[in-house]
Amino acid sequence: MSTIHDLPTPAVLIDLDALERNIARMADAARANGVALRPHAKTHKTIEIARLQIAAGAVGLTVAKTSEAEVYADSGFADVFVAYPVVGADKGRRLLALADRLRMAVGVDSVEGAATLAGVFAGAGRTLDVRLKVDVGLHRVGVPPADAARLAQRITDLPGLRLRGIFTHGGHAYGSEDEAGVVAVARDEGQTMAEVAATLRALGLELDTVSVGSTPTARGAMTVAGVTECRPGNYVFHDFSQVSLGTCSLEDCALTVLATVVSVPETGRAVVDAGSKTLSSDPLHPRVGGHGLVLGTRSRLARLSEEHGVIAVEPGDHFQVGDRVRILPNHACVVSNLHDRLTTVRAEGIVGSFAVAARGRVQ
Ligand SMILES: Cc1ncc(COP(=O)(O)O)c(C=O)c1O
Repeated sequence: MSTIHDLPTPAVLIDLDALERNIARMADAARANGVALRPHAKTHKTIEIARLQIAAGAVGLTVAKTSEAEVYADSGFADVFVAYPVVGADKGRRLLALADRLRMAVGVDSVEGAATLAGVFAGAGRTLDVRLKVDVGLHRVGVPPADAARLAQRITDLPGLRLRGIFTHGGHAYGSEDEAGVVAVARDEGQTMAEVAATLRALGLELDTVSVGSTPTARGAMTVAGVTECRPGNYVFHDFSQVSLGTCSLEDCALTVLATVVSVPETGRAVVDAGSKTLSSDPLHPRVGGHGLVLGTRSRLARLSEEHGVIAVEPGDHFQVGDRVRILPNHACVVSNLHDRLTTVRAEGIVGSFAVAARGRVQ
């Protein structure tokens, strides 16, 4: 069997033992809470990992992009939620082309955006299921909870759309300073969504889905009564941000980057052949700095340029030119999107590889 020592670097490694454990644990947690699990596939963008998630009990997939939904439809997946405010008749036409092949729902957060999809579906005599995005604190997209009822009613009035649910993403948990902060965001995420759902139902709107989720908040938010679905993505791999937040331990991290030390110009500085084009420049959450941890050491990547990763060598750590190191990146979801293939391993033995099939599908 070939081992990781035979691989050209940099290379993205997926530890299958950790991956399988992560998939099973989240599926078990959702089952135990009576909540549907719909993992966000943007983390891995592969067919193989999505199949493992479905085999473990996921009801379907979440994606962010219409083009990602097309990739999964082409590979035979049957149920996809595009958890993003999709806007534009061009996207509407592509969704219409998918409607016969997929059980599908799409996010909306404005009448103007929803109307662009309504026009396409009503024109074709078809109906598109939509879910209203609610902002529970990330302040990115989504309607404030107090405005949800008014907007939901206006969307319900549009022909060609059927409002079937509400969804949110408690991504502001990544800004929490400690585990207590994450727990509070998770509880608030679930409770706010349950309250919004109750308000909408009191107006006569029929909602079958109240969907929450980020990796840090998934386990907490799914315990709140009224929540029906959870959409974590990063949990399959985890990363240094999740470790820093206390969401997981180092042993739970399935994605690492194998790199070679190419230069040790002076004491305290070593340089690897993995820079921002391999690791991305995403910051660490919470923001305590650096661009990844060198596993088995206390040293971190302090600086990145495109093809260089500069390690600030901690006292007691030693690096030599030619050493191979495994780096735990800050944010695994962006790393997979930077690579064509992910090499699958068990311990140091190579098992095979997964193509990143939806890589670059950003439209
Ligand atoms: C709408 C939406 N749902 C779910 C997720 C999954 O969250 P996480 O990456 O924390 O697992 C994301 C992540 O960005 C998201 O934007």
